[in-house]
Amino acid sequence: MIFTVAIDGPAAAGKGTISRAVAERFGFAHLDTGILYRAVGRRVLDGDPAELAAATLRHRDIARDDLRTQAVAEAASQVAAMPEVRAALVAFQREFARRDGGAVLDGRDIGTVICPKAEVKIFVTASAEIRARRRYDELVASGQAADFDAVLGEVRARDARDMGRTDAPLKAAEDAVTLDTSALSIEEAVASATTIVEAGIAGR
Ligand code: CDP
Repeated sequence: MIFTVAIDGPAAAGKGTISRAVAERFGFAHLDTGILYRAVGRRVLDGDPAELAAATLRHRDIARDDLRTQAVAEAASQVAAMPEVRAALVAFQREFARRDGGAVLDGRDIGTVICPKAEVKIFVTASAEIRARRRYDELVASGQAADFDAVLGEVRARDARDMGRTDAPLKAAEDAVTLDTSALSIEEAVASATTIVEAGIAGR
């Protein structure tokens, strides 16, 4: 079965958790597309030109264990604003989306640019304060030093850059279902997303 679930939204809205849970529930493959931009950002921090890094991205770049830092997130958001970088990553994402057995992709532009014909589109969002609180808790839990106001500032700056760029800005596709997780537990958010996907499967 070819079936694509596109999950978009801003940083720390809950996309990753929801996507992994939906993929597991329905037996679909999952691609966190943010990791591609993080891997390019990481290579730029290591001295490579962004375009070259995107064009020659290898599995070992994506498998690195140092991609989940604030510095890499910032670098990712900067390279993600470059049209050449985005273009170099399109084919891989589209092939993944149409693989046999179903696929969940989460990112910023899956429902709008990468998979405009995805069978299900969900736009996951939450207030900036709540997203910053979740990101702060994650950083602390993983042993990284964090300051809440700095994390909130970083979330807002990244939102502004992701929404303001000309190429593939972060926004909900017109036919996406918006899921605001501000007041939801993880279980509630996953249950809502599951219901949306079930409706999509039933309606095809
Ligand atoms: O985990 P978090 O939501 O904070 O970030 P991420 O999904 O790992 O993405 C890091 C950065 O990559 C984002 O701030 C975006 O600028 C960029 N990105 C993008 O432009 N398009 C995507 N499909 C995924 C990520």
